[in-house]
Amino acid sequence: MSLEFLHRQELFKQEAYWRGSWNEGNPDLKIQVQNPASLEVLGAVPALGQKETLEAIDTSKEAFSDWSARPAKERAVLIRNWADKMKKNREDLALLMTLEQGKPLNESRGEIDYASSFLEWFAEEAKRTYGDIIPSHRKDTKIEVLKLPVGVCGILTPWNFPSSMITRKAAAALAAGCTVISKPSELTPFSALALAALAQEAGIPEGVFQVLTGYPEEIANTLIDHPDVKKISFTGSTRVGKLIMERSSKTLKRLSLELGGNAPFLIFDDADLEAAVKGSILSKFRNSGQTCVCANRFLVQKGIYNEFISLFSEAVLQLKTGNGLEKDVNVGPLINEAAVLKMEHHVENAKTTGAKLLLGGKRIEPGKLFFSPTVISDVSEDSLSMREEIFGPIAPIYRFDSVEEAIQIANSTPSGLAAYAYSTDYKKIRLLSERIESGMLGINEGLISSEQVPFGGVKESGFGREGSKYGIHEYLNVKYVCIGGF
Ligand code: SIN
Repeated sequence: MSLEFLHRQELFKQEAYWRGSWNEGNPDLKIQVQNPASLEVLGAVPALGQKETLEAIDTSKEAFSDWSARPAKERAVLIRNWADKMKKNREDLALLMTLEQGKPLNESRGEIDYASSFLEWFAEEAKRTYGDIIPSHRKDTKIEVLKLPVGVCGILTPWNFPSSMITRKAAAALAAGCTVISKPSELTPFSALALAALAQEAGIPEGVFQVLTGYPEEIANTLIDHPDVKKISFTGSTRVGKLIMERSSKTLKRLSLELGGNAPFLIFDDADLEAAVKGSILSKFRNSGQTCVCANRFLVQKGIYNEFISLFSEAVLQLKTGNGLEKDVNVGPLINEAAVLKMEHHVENAKTTGAKLLLGGKRIEPGKLFFSPTVISDVSEDSLSMREEIFGPIAPIYRFDSVEEAIQIANSTPSGLAAYAYSTDYKKIRLLSERIESGMLGINEGLISSEQVPFGGVKESGFGREGSKYGIHEYLNVKYVCIGGF
């Protein structure tokens, strides 16, 4: 299956969407996009830079006056239309995603549902950005609190979830009355451009949602430096998040940063082992382990350590690695050569620090970017996989003795995005809920994302929340108004 199987070829856009129209930019400056499974070039997108970003900012600012002034209900209808368009074109969007990102087609379908759920959710939330009336401290004044859209927003999103990371931000921003300039990853721009085509079809006015493809640093820096861009929302690495924060200080931008994780996955002696194995597989191997929230370190208590390893390894052996377009494939390719080299480095490091390689640990067919699902036991606390975000299909397993030790190790990294724990003891569950340092915690559950929940981290995993009733507030300013003369 390839691009010619799209039901609607017009969703495969090789132009960017800015200044209110589709534009191919300079025909001599293009970025090619490849399929990580076959390494075939799928197409090319404009390599835009500072000039086009400045134009997009002007357009976005102009569009903001009208968009922010519309009744919330009117914005809601258009955002909802966008969600409906996504649902209607689910198969095409999923195919595009698998072709450019590599994830299994069923996962892509799931991501399209996930992505459209944010549009649906925030279309509803648009109507609920209530302010307050506060009893005044004086007889002659009235006090109101208004929630107002922050303005033009730049959203910078990664390649691992090419659609949902965009809608999770854009839906909230648009619902609040902001306008959006989206810079997708240069590795997966086609999903973003298809979203823009559907936004246009849904009636989202010109300039309200623009997509710039091209030189990531140049576009991002122009957005960050510009005083008319009032907010940056970024999903990506902690390293880049810190650079964005530093650079944003010049204009004191509002920021949401959803950064790297290093999720501990704790399994206690009293856990339901079957459920724990199922949750482990889901959490670890979704998107070939390329998610910020996926299990990074398995911490398993000594009483069930051997049994867990044996059941988990059995389940890993059932996983089918291959081209995501093929039926029954669970694990697709990694995104690029650098990602595979990183896996090799992690495996080498584990071996040299005394761990045991139980399964996988190497590249496999059917292509250059496939890495076999890997299980490593007896990892030491100082091995790389325990300290760094792996972002690939490697499961390092560490043995612990006591609850205190588990909590201490779980909290021993600078990251604090997601964490998971399996136990049937409600007192332990309560303790973990309070003591694990993370923005999100799955108890007896390995898959915790949805549009209703506040997604985000603590510590060096960033700040700000996406999705849920909290997500829209990232795009609203609180204004206190004191009305005198009564
Ligand atoms: C991410 O990996 O950044 C997002 C994962 C999710 O939303 O579940």
